[in-house]
Amino acid sequence: MSMGPAVLLIAGLAWTVLETATATDWSCAKPAEIEHGYVEHLIKYRCDPYYQLRSSGDGTYKCDEDHEWVSPEAGKEVPVCEPVCGKPKNPPRQMQRIIGGLLAGKGSFPWQGRLVTRHNLTVGATLIGDQWLLTTGRNVYLNHSENTKPEEIAPTLQLFLGSQKEPASGIERVVLHPGYPETVDLALLKLKQKVLLGEEVMPICLPQKDYVRPGRVGYVSGWGRGATFAFPDMLKYVMLPVAEGERCREYYEARNESYWVQPILSNDTFCVGMSELREDTCYGDAGGAFAVQDPDDNTWYVAGILSYDKTCTVSKYGVYVDVQRVLAWVKETVAAG
Ligand SMILES: *[C@@H]1O[C@H](CO)[C@@H](O)[C@H](O)[C@H]1NC(C)=O
Ligand SMILES: *[C@@H]1O[C@H](CO)[C@@H](O)[C@H](O)[C@H]1NC(C)=O
Ligand SMILES: *[C@@H]1O[C@H](CO)[C@@H](O)[C@H](O)[C@H]1NC(C)=O
Ligand SMILES: *[C@@H]1O[C@H](CO)[C@@H](O)[C@H](O)[C@H]1NC(C)=O
Repeated sequence: MSMGPAVLLIAGLAWTVLETATATDWSCAKPAEIEHGYVEHLIKYRCDPYYQLRSSGDGTYKCDEDHEWVSPEAGKEVPVCEPVCGKPKNPPRQMQRIIGGLLAGKGSFPWQGRLVTRHNLTVGATLIGDQWLLTTGRNVYLNHSENTKPEEIAPTLQLFLGSQKEPASGIERVVLHPGYPETVDLALLKLKQKVLLGEEVMPICLPQKDYVRPGRVGYVSGWGRGATFAFPDMLKYVMLPVAEGERCREYYEARNESYWVQPILSNDTFCVGMSELREDTCYGDAGGAFAVQDPDDNTWYVAGILSYDKTCTVSKYGVYVDVQRVLAWVKETVAAG
């Protein structure tokens, strides 16, 4: 961070300089040492559109006699730029129809991650901060035997965000939900480094409310296989309604043979019904978000994480982990670092 023009070093004059710090120069990290000679020095913390200031007050800090930054409202608490979530620049619309789903526009699903396993299978992951993603436990264990430890799996996964051709920072840690594999098919991935957010890479917000009501429509995106079972190279999405839980449970209970993978259904899951257009999620979409837009604050929230993506157009219900039901675990795990 630059400390302002040298002319301000003239001692004894009550110069005031208002500097603006932005998230891109990591302004919001602790300010650099202050050189002697400043009579007064103000700094205005400001984040760019993809970060927001977490501090009380308006973000104006003053250098005190002890050469520490203080704000009238926040005291010596160092301001932090936090990721803005759930505000895509180019939200998905019902245009751009193509067969078997809609083609996502640039930056429509900036929380969508693409996870590539060691045997080159593509699955989904959902960015929920600048260093953490949600995906399914089953995705994590693809091509690994069930007694493999998460720490052995982490280095075998590659993650791609936005339209990046190079993987994002490596995966430092895989944390499985304690309910996996019996009831909750969920895992958290921690990246080795924070990713820089922008138009194409932005987290989705964790839900503050219960959005899981039959009929409520959400958006699901993914690179999964389409009707032809080929992996598309473009991100696609579908709009699907939350289904009646009881019908979904009955459906899967009746359909028990001839299917090699059954969904994990529990109190912490919900089902999503097929669209009238016979578009659906398919192999490789798991780990993606059931994203709902809350009209109250015009923000996108992750109501669910797609766990059972074997529906394609064959059967009726996709199964999702209900994020609100596992919110405490998500928040605790992320806070523990
Ligand atoms: C995965 O894909 C990469 C690049 O396309 C290729 O070099 C590699 O051999 C593939 N690995 C496997 C296990 O198929
Ligand atoms: C991983 O994939 C490779 C290539 O398809 C296969 O040979 C191997 O058996 C798989 N391992 C496991 C544990 O699934
Ligand atoms: C499969 O379903 C049938 C009837 O719905 C039931 O009689 C049978 O026990 C079930 N099999 C298993 C393995 O659950
Ligand atoms: C699931 O919910 C039902 C109905 O609320 C309850 O009776 C049951 O005990 C719950 N099961 C678990 C495993 O929490």
